[in-house]
Amino acid sequence: MPDFETFLKNNLPVVETFHPDYNKAMSEMLLAGGKRFRPRLLLSIVDAYAPLLYDSAMYAALAVELFHTYSLIHDDLPAMDDAPLRRGHRTLHVKYGEALAILVGDALNTHSFELLAKAPFRADVKVELIRILAESGGVGGMVLGQAIDLYFENRHLDLDEVVQLHRCKTAKLIAASLRMGAVIAGLDSKKGQELYDFGLELGILFQVQDDILDAIQSTEEAGKPTRHDSCKNSFVTLLGVDGAMGYAGILAEKIHVRFDNMEAPLKKALGKLIRNYLHRHERDR
Ligand code: IPE
Ligand code: IPE
Ligand code: MG
Ligand code: MG
Ligand code: MG
Repeated sequence: MPDFETFLKNNLPVVETFHPDYNKAMSEMLLAGGKRFRPRLLLSIVDAYAPLLYDSAMYAALAVELFHTYSLIHDDLPAMDDAPLRRGHRTLHVKYGEALAILVGDALNTHSFELLAKAPFRADVKVELIRILAESGGVGGMVLGQAIDLYFENRHLDLDEVVQLHRCKTAKLIAASLRMGAVIAGLDSKKGQELYDFGLELGILFQVQDDILDAIQSTEEAGKPTRHDSCKNSFVTLLGVDGAMGYAGILAEKIHVRFDNMEAPLKKALGKLIRNYLHRHERDR
């Protein structure tokens, strides 16, 4: 079974060009690390239900990571969060200039769909994967979440609106990763929807934790600037650190109950990831 990191290294978006920085900039953030949470989720579902398709599923796992990395590169741009550090490395706009950073994001976005189109699956499976990633990442998904996040800087949102913001910005892509795994594994749409709903809850918790870590971790620990969210409608801004911790605890408990009720193969495949992530906001305190 190839591991995801090896697959990524062997499938970097490299082209022949006389541009001196292009290929390096294209690969740099992908190789800088990251938790690979979304590809792991996708691969766990395939591992649970269709292990023979695990190798093929790497294409979809890589597509999701490319898409996510594009969202991070753009998130760090001066016009967005204006962050000089990501995954412990200088951000692309700092190193190569804003124009190339924007273009690398654009290219990783489109390349994720190219990968899905070329993946070794039936045509109907590929169309479904493309649809799920586009819906969760695009107009009504991550892009909308980012638009709300940025428009409402220094303007107050209520808890329900903040949950909607997090759902779009972060949770939908996490939910999509699970659902894409379900589509590859050939699960019926009811199971796919259940996994998507589970992923939405998990994704909101993931962003609440990210907000908490912004408040309590050092830049070195996080590999990105922390204490960066004071102008944002983060859960910490809204509830304070202790309030956000309490909220994360409630979400983690709900997710735990859902997880305990899952069928055996899913529990086996997702168990390690869930154990590692469900309480990371407490562990890292
Ligand atoms: C960071 O995502 C942005 C959020 C949506 C919270 P990750 O915390 O998954 O970042 P990497 O991939 O590990 O760098
Ligand atoms: C960004 O959320 C989520 C994305 C869609 C990229 P944040 O702005 O909180 O992510 P970090 O903290 O910079 O990783
Ligand atoms: Mg942001
Ligand atoms: Mg940011
Ligand atoms: Mg953050």
